[in-house]
Amino acid sequence: MDFYLPARLITGRGAVARSADRIAAFGDRCLIVTGGSAARKCGALDDVTAVLEERGIAYKIYDAIQPNPSIASCVEGGRLAARFQADFVIGIGGGSPLDAAKVIALSARNPELDAEGLYSMQWPNPPLPAVLVGTTAGTGSEMTGVAVITDTAGRKHSFHGESFYAALSIGDPRYTESVPLRVTASTGVDALAHCLESCFCKTANEISVALAVQGISMLLQPLSNIAKGNLPTPVEREILYQASILGGMAISITGTCMPHNLGYYLTETCGTPHGFACALFEPALLRHAQSCAPQYTVQVLEKADTDAAELSALIRALTPEPELRLSEEELEAILPRWENNASIRKTVGELTKDHIREIWREALSL
Ligand SMILES: [Fe+2]
Repeated sequence: MDFYLPARLITGRGAVARSADRIAAFGDRCLIVTGGSAARKCGALDDVTAVLEERGIAYKIYDAIQPNPSIASCVEGGRLAARFQADFVIGIGGGSPLDAAKVIALSARNPELDAEGLYSMQWPNPPLPAVLVGTTAGTGSEMTGVAVITDTAGRKHSFHGESFYAALSIGDPRYTESVPLRVTASTGVDALAHCLESCFCKTANEISVALAVQGISMLLQPLSNIAKGNLPTPVEREILYQASILGGMAISITGTCMPHNLGYYLTETCGTPHGFACALFEPALLRHAQSCAPQYTVQVLEKADTDAAELSALIRALTPEPELRLSEEELEAILPRWENNASIRKTVGELTKDHIREIWREALSL
């Protein structure tokens, strides 16, 4: 086993205010990275700026991060941080602003690099420290050394490595209380996808499975409620957030596998929300795991007090119909994308081109 997870996480109500000393230790100037209005609406931005003002830390806000953030926005944000002479970056939001903040922290110390230079994974300087404040329960980015960024060709590509762990992550479940039902469902099912995929990665080990199993068992009840159309209670919000962190820790060890990689295509082509896009392929992962590792699958899911049938039904109840329409010929044309693909190879057992074709046919009801 090779276990490494260098991220400090502080959670609970009032966690940002309680972290003031640690935030102030990163320097005197800060770039805040966020999306549109969610960080303001949930109160996280006000809490962060209150700490910065109280400690006399100068700040600038870069709030141009869109869902599925582009590498161009990371370069722009990085150059802004460099001009502002920021000592550190604070990302506030769901997965998109958090992932973007990690790459903006890198770009800030390497502002001469364009998109290609950043993706080269060879940079003259290490990134600035990044503080991440999570406002949704799903991404797990708070605990991973990964940032998924859309390249100039519109394809999602991961940055990963030790440079992409947060210097400090802060989670206050209060911030998730203003998240609407549909986003809560999509991010919640993303957390479940992380836990499930982690269990069925060839890279899984005792620690990752323990984290993922605990995450799955915590998610079952609040996700069942969401599937019935109910907004989570504050207690359920807290459970969802904690489980999303466990999922993040699990994939920090294993990475994700087949469903995430197929899901990226749906998001790139139709804008399907990330969690829903991955969820569409989770029942196929469970079925595949049952066929190639039946005993392991039963044991793992039993530990989470569930089984493949119950989980698949829950995921289907949470997942809207896909908007993508493909003919058989169009499907055939995109299949090479998953040949020699690391995420496919990492999935338990073996997934051939025929398997991937069948998984797509089933997901799109072809
Ligand atoms: Fe995800």
